[in-house]
Amino acid sequence: TPITSPDLSKCSTGTNLNTQQPLDVNCCPPVSKEIIDYKLPPVGKMRFRPAAHLAGEDYYAKFEKAVELMKALPPEDPRNFMQQANVHCAYCNLTYQQTGDPKLKLQIHNCWHFFPWHRWYLYFFERILGKLIDDPTFGLPFWNWDNPDGMIMPEVFARKHSPLFDARRNTSHLPPALADLAYSSKSPTNPKKIIPNNLTVMYGEMVRNVSKLEDFYGAKYVVGTAPDPGPGSVERGSHMALHGWVGENTPTGEDMGNFYSTARDPIFYSHHTNVDRLWTVWRGLRGPKPKDFPDSDWLDADFLFYDENAQLVRVKVVDTLDNEKMGYVYQDVDLPWLKNRP
Ligand code: C2O
Repeated sequence: TPITSPDLSKCSTGTNLNTQQPLDVNCCPPVSKEIIDYKLPPVGKMRFRPAAHLAGEDYYAKFEKAVELMKALPPEDPRNFMQQANVHCAYCNLTYQQTGDPKLKLQIHNCWHFFPWHRWYLYFFERILGKLIDDPTFGLPFWNWDNPDGMIMPEVFARKHSPLFDARRNTSHLPPALADLAYSSKSPTNPKKIIPNNLTVMYGEMVRNVSKLEDFYGAKYVVGTAPDPGPGSVERGSHMALHGWVGENTPTGEDMGNFYSTARDPIFYSHHTNVDRLWTVWRGLRGPKPKDFPDSDWLDADFLFYDENAQLVRVKVVDTLDNEKMGYVYQDVDLPWLKNRP
């Protein structure tokens, strides 16, 4: 039986996954009696998601304005920036019961819902931003860390007075430090080897180590499965490495290096936009091989989000399979790792 939406009224204090202690923040969303089954709206003009390092000042000004407006919404508005950050905490930090097996907690990471859940999360975040600046074509920028040209933190996030700045980052990883896709605080990579190593990491995650669907998506997760059955290649590898690389160099890693606080850093959304883009790229590379699980246990799973009109909506995995049907496209950029077969 597929995972279904949690009962928001049963949200409780979750767990700090870095310390295994109860969280000292409340990340439960507002409760709403009315839930609408979400239908993808007809696609008008596509939203365009640019590479962050290529986007240019006019675009940055719009993006900064939108985030500033989102931070200025009333704190109880589900579209407020902190509320949006808490959506991530609530779905990750074991605050919800699993509907159908309330002894278990819900966790959408480390399983086959990682890509679809985050796709929906970014989708609504993007639509809220677009609405705030009255631009229905606004698209989130992606941090193109799989390409040497994008392997430093996009400079717009490092401007001290920008709404995109977060003071809780590892200051030795601000530009021009090279992002290390195999980062671990214990064993630093030789700086001269970072770029070739990153390309090898990407080739492994996208091509070499993903013969089965679960290898890419993560393990099956249904009603009755305990949290964390197992992540897919990108989630486990480059994705987690960069969370830790950006976050402050402390045992608890706030903001980016700890799941409850990670989405308080605006760069989270560009990091995940690239993860989402890699999903689209991977599908393109599959050729005739299956791209999706055919099981209703995957396709019919559903989640809850607040949309750009502050309406609580129920969304399904099946509607995430094609980003163009969701109304957005990615800037086309080189895939240098694809030629990096070892
Ligand atoms: Cu929801 Cu990068 O984690």
